[in-house]
Amino acid sequence: MDIKKLVSQMTLEEKASLCSGADFWHTRGVERLGIPSVMVTDGPCGLRKQAGETDHLGLNASVKAISYPTGSCIASSFDRNLIRESGEYLGEECQAEDVAVLLGPAVNIKRSPLCGRNFEYFSEDPYVAGEMAAAYIKGVQSKHVGTSIKHFAANSQEHRRMTSDSVVDERTLRELYFPAFEKAAKEAQPWTFMCSYNRLNGTYASENHRLLTELLRDEWGFEGAVVSDWGAVNERPVGVAAGLDLEMPGPGTANTQKIIEAVKNGTLAEQDVDTAVERVLQFVYAYLENRDPNAKFQYERDHEKARQMAAESMVLLKNEGNILPLSKEKKVAFLGKFAELPRFQGGGSSHVNSFKVVGAVEAAEGLSVTYAQGYPTDTQTPDDAMIAEAVKAAKDADCAVLFIGITDAMESEGFDRKDLKIPACQEKLIEEVVKVQKNTVVVVHCGAPIEMPWIDDVKAVLYAYLGGEAVGGATVDILFGEVNPSGKLAETFPLRLEDNPSYLYYFGEGDRTEYREGIFVGYRYYDKKKLPVLFPFGHGLSYTEFAYSDLTFDKTSLKDTDTLRVSVKVKNVGERAGKEIVQLYVQDNESSVIRPVKELMGFEKIELAPKEEKTVSFTLEKRAFAFYDTAISDWRVETGEFTIHIGKSSRDIQLSGVVHVESTTVVKKVFTANSTIGDIMADPKGAQVLGQMMQAMMPGGGPDAGDMFDAEGMQAMMNAMPLRGVVMMAGDSVKPEMLQALLDKLNA
Ligand code: BGC
Repeated sequence: MDIKKLVSQMTLEEKASLCSGADFWHTRGVERLGIPSVMVTDGPCGLRKQAGETDHLGLNASVKAISYPTGSCIASSFDRNLIRESGEYLGEECQAEDVAVLLGPAVNIKRSPLCGRNFEYFSEDPYVAGEMAAAYIKGVQSKHVGTSIKHFAANSQEHRRMTSDSVVDERTLRELYFPAFEKAAKEAQPWTFMCSYNRLNGTYASENHRLLTELLRDEWGFEGAVVSDWGAVNERPVGVAAGLDLEMPGPGTANTQKIIEAVKNGTLAEQDVDTAVERVLQFVYAYLENRDPNAKFQYERDHEKARQMAAESMVLLKNEGNILPLSKEKKVAFLGKFAELPRFQGGGSSHVNSFKVVGAVEAAEGLSVTYAQGYPTDTQTPDDAMIAEAVKAAKDADCAVLFIGITDAMESEGFDRKDLKIPACQEKLIEEVVKVQKNTVVVVHCGAPIEMPWIDDVKAVLYAYLGGEAVGGATVDILFGEVNPSGKLAETFPLRLEDNPSYLYYFGEGDRTEYREGIFVGYRYYDKKKLPVLFPFGHGLSYTEFAYSDLTFDKTSLKDTDTLRVSVKVKNVGERAGKEIVQLYVQDNESSVIRPVKELMGFEKIELAPKEEKTVSFTLEKRAFAFYDTAISDWRVETGEFTIHIGKSSRDIQLSGVVHVESTTVVKKVFTANSTIGDIMADPKGAQVLGQMMQAMMPGGGPDAGDMFDAEGMQAMMNAMPLRGVVMMAGDSVKPEMLQALLDKLNA
């Protein structure tokens, strides 16, 4: 389709109308020119396609679809292939349902564990979020269905989400809140980007030229269309000029009129409208020209995929005395309503009308499993009769498995959690059960971390997250050892909410939310503060053990323009086949800027049979060593030593080695009378010039500090002194012309 030609045949009115949707889920067509409309649908973890009358609140039922595990769950798989594959399944389902764009992935950084939408998001770490996003997009789009990576940008809270202003400094944006979007744009070219509701540093994302055009298109090379989050538009003509192509939902009648008027009165260039329409039609035709009329929704097959994904993603957090896996011979009591009716997906726009939901009780059919409800789900108040029944079941069994978590009412899109607690009735159930059953295992259904004051009282914890409609089967697979758990946390579990770095500032003041903790989000903070945590980033257990050896580098000295190849051997030293997620962290040993202790820059998931050994390799490029230098508006590596850590988790480092990296960025320094001696001496040329001068001025080696300072103290004092201070100390012997001559020499 010659889209430019098509646009040239349109009236201004037609073009303006195409900048909004036709209704909640469809783009607008132009009958006169034979331009059809296509459907877009949520996303990200299953299709929410409203079949009849559409409404934003999802009051009208959507078609049956598979509810896959949510973002926080699948991120814990650390498995790019699995996520890509799930994208392929979703893409096929979209083809079968005639959906052109799936509204996902959702990649916002988990700044606080309280964010109501953390269940949809991947990680507190931008590298993980970016890798998962790219895999998801590639998967869906391989089926000629578009994606909409969301919510761009810095939309890490639900509280006042439609008006809040995320105030974030440039370095923090570049290092934490942008990279997942940047990687997706550069590596996977999503068909669309969805701009977020919030403002970023004062300007709504939907009319933020810097975000939607300068950064996204000019810098990252994004070629697709930008779609507004549903209802995110503030001033539509400003949005068009900023690079927001499609307003959703439609019909946008008033805004269409505003666009027409703005063009007519010269405040909006018609060319900007043309560009927006071209971008919208680009994805419309990319879909229509590659329709797969034979695509069928394969419910059973896809349900099985959801089960596999859940089993690959759940995280075994604790397993004292190897209580898991359970023997199938044992009598086991499944306790808690979630055993029967799991909480498997989140509330809000991602809510899927699930094909079939299988709980653990149903999945355990044929095993020696009893069940008691244990707690109500409509109140937090403990129910004594339910507890008594559960306690009896626990006593009569060899082992108790408690299914707990938080409810839909506590965790959803649209609002944030208030704390990290589970309902009081569940706390009470745990308390009573562990009194009578020392072999107690806990399975948690929740999209984000919870506090676990009872952690020492239970033998094992399996974090199922929101594991999708097939979560019951996957849980039973892991509990009884059919599947060896292999998920690891893509976020830190703090001991207490108050330990979280955003705790002091989260929710903000009115609409103003300052991201004051800056780059210190998640493990970047806990590591720097050396704080104990409940479970660290990257943690997850297996039923087997892995041994690491032979960390090697293809070079130990490199320029920042070179790549570094890192290899390590990993061996399964246990009795069962299993999967390990090998993590690579980079530490800048000495830096002139404030940096985290270490940052994740690589991970690989491998499968190993008992006694099998594999070599895992990583390739590191400049970005792995760099920080974002706002002085030069670019990434910069500082010459020096970097430690490469290989770990089982961020707090279980197995091997480390040092490499020397030389910077190729020349940063021109300008010295003034206010430059300190220390800063001048740290510069090779400065050291030479100033060194000579000091020798000349103080042939005896400078003033005798006597008892006042030791050599080191003297040095420190001198280092902190500005040049003008030295001149002043020297009295009349240094003339202003001499200082100027020195500066000229230093800056030459
Ligand atoms: C959500 C988006 C979603 C859209 C359409 C918005 O409220 O923030 O994630 O895609 O609605 O349902």
